[in-house]
Amino acid sequence: MKRLYNIFLIVTVYFQAMALKAETVATITSPNKNLVVHILINGEGRPGYNVESNGKNLVSESRLGFLLSDAPQLARNFIFVNAVERSEDGTWKQPWGEWESIRNHFNELKVRIQEKTPLHRQLDIVFRVYDDGIGFRYEFPEQPTLKIANIVEELTQFNLAEPATAWWIPAIESNREEYLYNKTSIDEVGLAQTPMTVKLSSGSYISFHEAALVNYSAMNIQKVEGRHLKAVLTPSSSGPKVTRALPFVTPWRTLTIASDAPGLYMSHLILNLNEPNKLGDVSWVHPRKYVGIWWGMHLDTQSWASGVKHGATTAYAKKMINFASKNGFSGLLVEGWNQGWDGDWFANGDDFSFTKAYPDYDLDAVVAYGKTKNVSIIAHNETSANAAHYEAEMGAAFDLYKSLGIDTIKTGYVSDAGGFRVRKPDGSIVFDWHEGQASSVHHLKVVTEAAKRHIAINPHEPIKDTGLRRTYPNWISREGARGMEYNAWGVPKNPPAHEANLVFTRMLSGPFDSTPGVLSLKGRDNSDILSTEAKQLALYVVIYSPIQMVPDLPENYENHLPALQFIKDVPTDWSDTRVLAGEIGDHAVIARKDRASDNWYLGAVGNDQSHMLTVKLDFLSAHTTYLAQIYRDGSKADYRTEAKHSMIIESRKVHAGDKLTLPIAPGGGEAIRFVAQ
Ligand code: NOJ
Ligand code: CA
Repeated sequence: MKRLYNIFLIVTVYFQAMALKAETVATITSPNKNLVVHILINGEGRPGYNVESNGKNLVSESRLGFLLSDAPQLARNFIFVNAVERSEDGTWKQPWGEWESIRNHFNELKVRIQEKTPLHRQLDIVFRVYDDGIGFRYEFPEQPTLKIANIVEELTQFNLAEPATAWWIPAIESNREEYLYNKTSIDEVGLAQTPMTVKLSSGSYISFHEAALVNYSAMNIQKVEGRHLKAVLTPSSSGPKVTRALPFVTPWRTLTIASDAPGLYMSHLILNLNEPNKLGDVSWVHPRKYVGIWWGMHLDTQSWASGVKHGATTAYAKKMINFASKNGFSGLLVEGWNQGWDGDWFANGDDFSFTKAYPDYDLDAVVAYGKTKNVSIIAHNETSANAAHYEAEMGAAFDLYKSLGIDTIKTGYVSDAGGFRVRKPDGSIVFDWHEGQASSVHHLKVVTEAAKRHIAINPHEPIKDTGLRRTYPNWISREGARGMEYNAWGVPKNPPAHEANLVFTRMLSGPFDSTPGVLSLKGRDNSDILSTEAKQLALYVVIYSPIQMVPDLPENYENHLPALQFIKDVPTDWSDTRVLAGEIGDHAVIARKDRASDNWYLGAVGNDQSHMLTVKLDFLSAHTTYLAQIYRDGSKADYRTEAKHSMIIESRKVHAGDKLTLPIAPGGGEAIRFVAQ
C-alpha cells in the first residue's frame, strides 16, 4: 500500500512539474547573436523570459505580470497569440553629451499574449535586444475588459543564473538617492535602487535599471531568495502605485550586459531606448562651468536665510560675477536669493516665493551686471519637495526668468522620503514619494514648461535619471547621489572609493551635478575632505555633467592657482568618451574628447589604496603630437595627511599608442589635458 502511495506521489510531482515547465513561444537575438532572449509560457499560463549570453544562461526563467487593485491579477492563464519582429540600425546625434554620435542597433520582438479565462485580457511584451544589453516593456493595448489599470505591483522577476556580487544602495529610505554603495553577495541585497550593478561568478557584469520613466512609478529591485530578484515599484500614498488609462506602455526594464566594468559605461542602451528629441532646436541649452553662492552655506559661514550671514547680497553676487568672469566661467548659481528661507524651510515649502527677492538682493541689477561680464545667473528654486506649491508658482517664475534672460534653473526637493507633496485632481494635497508616479509627472511638467521658455532644468533630490535627456535635452543634469555637499557636513563624508563606485552604478543613468573641485579640501569647521588635490581635478572628467560647478570659495582658489588652471581649461561637452580602465569601487580611468577642439582630457580616480595604473593612449589621433599637461599626486600624497595637497604638474609630448603610467595615491587621482600641437 505504502509503495503504491509513493508511486502516486512521484507521478503527481512529475505531472505538476510538467505542467509548470515553461515552453519557449518566441526567441530574439542581438544583432551580433551573442545575446538570446526566449519568451516563455509555463503550464499554468504564466508568462516569462530568460536570457543567454554566448550560449550560457545569464538570467533563468523569470516571470512577468501585474497585480491590480480592482481586477484579477494579470499573471496566469495566458496563451501565446502572435509575435512580430523588426530591426533598426541608425545613428543619432546628442546635442550635448559624452558622445556626439550614437548608434542605435537592435532587434525587436513584440509578443501578444491573451488570457484564456472569460476576461480574455491581452498584454504585449516587447523586447529590444542590443549587442550591449536588453530592454523590455509591457504594452497595454486598448481592450473591452480593461479600461484603467490600477497597478499595485509589477510582477517582473530577474532570476540570476549564477551567484553574483552586487553594488547597491537602499531604496525608499529617508535620504532618497544619497547613500553610500554596499558591496554584498546577491543574497544579501535588501530593497535596492536602480541602477544596481552585479558581477556574476563567471565574470559577466549586468546593470539593472530602467529607461523612459514617464507617468509611472520608479522600479526598485528586491531580493526574494537566493539569486531571485523582483521588481518593486515605488509606493503611492493614495492607493495603487500606478493608475493609467489604456492604451499605455510601461518604462523599459533594462539589463546592460558587459564582460567588464568599463563595458557597462560604454553602453548606450538607456539613451537608445528613449524617444528622440521632442524639443527641436535646443541651441539655447548651454553646457558650461558655473560658480556659486553655495559652498559658504554648506560650510555654515553664510546663510540662505536673511540676516548678517545672508550670502545672496547684491554686493557679494557682483564679487562672484567678477571672479567667474576673470576665470572664464559663464554661470553664477545664487542660492538664498528668494524669500522663504527664514524659519523652518525644510518643513514648509509653502512659504517660498520664486519671484520675490530678499531686500538686500537686487535681481535685476545682478542679472544686468552679469551680462556685462558674460556671466549668466542660474536661478535657484528650492521647493522642500512641495511640488504642489511649485506647480502653482512656476509659470510666473519661469516667465520672469525668461524676461531676464535666465536660461538655467537648479530646482531642489529637500525632504525626507515620503514628503513629496502633490495636489490630487480633487484639489487635496497628499504626501507622496520622490520617485512615485506623481513625481514622474511633476518632473516632466517642470521640464516641458521650462522648455517653452528656453530654460534648462537641473533638479536636486530628483527622480532618477532614465535617459529622458534624449527626449528633453533641456533636462541638463541632476543630483540623485551623494555629492560634494556631504564633504561639508556629511557623517560620514564621502569615502575615497565613492566615485569609483559611482562610475559603474549611478553614472550609468546619466549626468550628475556632483560639484567637484573643492581645492581647499576642507569642509565645515575645517574638517578634512577625504581626497587629494589632483583627484578633485580628475573628477571633472570622471563624473560627467554638461554643467559643472566650480564650488569652492574664491579666496580658496586664489591659494591654488596652478590647479585652478586645469578647471579653467577642462570643457563640459564631449564628442567622444572612452573608459580606459576600471573596476567597481577600485579605480576608473576615463578619456574624453572636447567637442570644440582636437584636445583630449583624461581623469583617473582610485580608492583608499595606492595604484600604479598603465594606460595606452590609443584614443589620440595618429600623426598628431600632443602636449600632455599632467596633474598627478606627489609621491607622498595621501588623503589622510596634509600631503593630500602634494601635486606634481608637468608637461611632456606624447603620441597615439604611447603608454602612460598613472601613479594614484591613497584617496588620489590624476588629470591630464592633451593639447593637439
Ligand atoms: C540640497 C542640495 O543638494 C544643495 O545643493 C542645496 O544647496 C540645498 N539643498 C538647498 O537647496
Ligand atoms: Ca542633495
